[in-house]
Amino acid sequence: MILESKSIRLRFVEDSDAEFILSLRLDDRYNKFLSSVSPDVEAQKKWIRKYKDDEKNGIQYYFIIERLDGMPCGTVRVYDIRNDSFCWGSWILNEKKTRYAALESAFLIYEFGFKQLGFKKSHFDVMKGNKGVIKFHTRIGAVKTSEDEINDYFEITEESVEKAKENLADKIR
Ligand SMILES: CC(C)(COP(=O)(O)OP(=O)(O)OC[C@H]1O[C@@H](n2cnc3c(N)ncnc32)[C@H](O)[C@@H]1OP(=O)(O)O)[C@@H](O)C(=O)NCCC(=O)NCCS
Repeated sequence: MILESKSIRLRFVEDSDAEFILSLRLDDRYNKFLSSVSPDVEAQKKWIRKYKDDEKNGIQYYFIIERLDGMPCGTVRVYDIRNDSFCWGSWILNEKKTRYAALESAFLIYEFGFKQLGFKKSHFDVMKGNKGVIKFHTRIGAVKTSEDEINDYFEITEESVEKAKENLADKIR
């Protein structure tokens, strides 16, 4: 399955992406609402090599978001795959992103989870202060299911995503 849209594509992470991933995760413009990672490139490479087993075994899928000219501009990851729902996160886009890379990458992740993996719904958490991202998800049709001190928890159905995609066709096609 080729996960490609108007201006970006998703491809699986390789250990050679370690520096790029760290450049995103260690950048204070992007990491305020993400869990912290070690700045050690070798440790990141080791983590990716171990992750590749998870990818083969269908436990998690970690993608680089790249522009169609090959320039990497972000990451996104599918994990916590349950019986009836998949979770996604580790979602970052840097200043090389295209205008609607956020919408396109979200729709590509939903295409992967709904069409390729066969789920009908998806779940994810967003840290409470991350207002722009909460708004992003709510506009597409995600519903808040619970919260704790740190996170809001959301769910979205394939049906809601399909509707949003139709409404936003002028931007993403
Ligand atoms: C999360 C992240 C990848 C989202 O990307 P983003 O580019 O900031 O996303 P935006 O919400 O600005 O959406 C991009 C564009 O699509 C538009 N858009 C988004 N949803 C839309 C909708 N439903 N309808 C119409 N337009 C929409 C936005 O208005 C924006 O366009 P504009 O620049 O003309 O205003 C990025 O903010 C990021 O890397 N954040 C730091 C890491 C992080 O917090 N990750 C999330 C952890 S849960």
